[in-house]
Amino acid sequence: MRELLRAILGLPPAASTVADDVDGLHFLVISATMLIAAYVFASAAWFAVRYARRKDGQLTERLAASRRHEAITIVVVLSAFLLFWVIGFRQYLRMTDPPPDADVVFVEAKQWMWKFTYADGRDANDVLTVPAGRPIKLVMSSRDMIHSFFVPAFRIKRDVLPGRETIAWFEAKTPGTYPIWCAEYCGVSHSRMRGEVVVLSPEDYARWRGKRGTGDLVAMGRDVAVRRACTACHTLDGQRHIGPTWSGLYGSEVTLSDGRRLVADDAYLTRSMMDPLADVVAGYQPVMPTYRGQLSAAEAGALVELIKSLRHGPTATAGVLPRLDVEPAADAGRAP
Ligand code: CUA
Repeated sequence: MRELLRAILGLPPAASTVADDVDGLHFLVISATMLIAAYVFASAAWFAVRYARRKDGQLTERLAASRRHEAITIVVVLSAFLLFWVIGFRQYLRMTDPPPDADVVFVEAKQWMWKFTYADGRDANDVLTVPAGRPIKLVMSSRDMIHSFFVPAFRIKRDVLPGRETIAWFEAKTPGTYPIWCAEYCGVSHSRMRGEVVVLSPEDYARWRGKRGTGDLVAMGRDVAVRRACTACHTLDGQRHIGPTWSGLYGSEVTLSDGRRLVADDAYLTRSMMDPLADVVAGYQPVMPTYRGQLSAAEAGALVELIKSLRHGPTATAGVLPRLDVEPAADAGRAP
């Protein structure tokens, strides 16, 4: 039945775990509106025949609907819309909240391509390779314009914005190749900003992954922190410097210079890199330059992972993270 409706409506295959539910709601809304439209057309036709004026001066009887009739109409229509909303809202929550064990892929959009960076540091242009049956969380940002990451077969679409991170996730059901489109007009080659998701079976994926791949995100974050001279102002061992230390920062409550308090989560850390003067921590000077357009999505993500790895302080992660020379060394003077 679903396949038949999909064929009638010209929908792409339903290749992700949310696709069937999204289609279910789509079919419900379309069927309900089609039935009502058919009823309205049929009534109009019937009225035109039944109440046609048959002789000059003939007047139509005045008819008024009863209260009961009105009440039933209102309740039925309102409940139908509320039902659409309840189903849709639950799907929306599910689609915006990635499972905690999802694999992370960083997506960077730019005129006119998609760049994917995997958690182990590999990257690829326009081709996103993922295993079937695993949730994949996409952490996305744009280098220039507003783009929109759209995979019709997965029924996911999410805007990708410069200087901000947006999140999308999916779990592909069956191996295959599915097109990615940019769904937001972003310049002359917008319509050619296409890519594809290659979904492999878990065995093929393990083979593909084994072929290449080195390093991990925390190590990459440490590398970025040194290269971009973050460590000229931020220490990793809890000492106060020009900026707040990264040790124990992640997940802690931060008091800002204007008195607001917020939790240092991924969104806050990313915003602080891209728009540092928006949330200055109390007791520090507003001197940090913006890194918007300078850090790629993967670099920003790697820094967040590094800061996350330090959330219990530098000692807890000593095994993972070799001690860094945090003094503003040779790198400090160099512009990022
Ligand atoms: Cu990118 Cu349209």
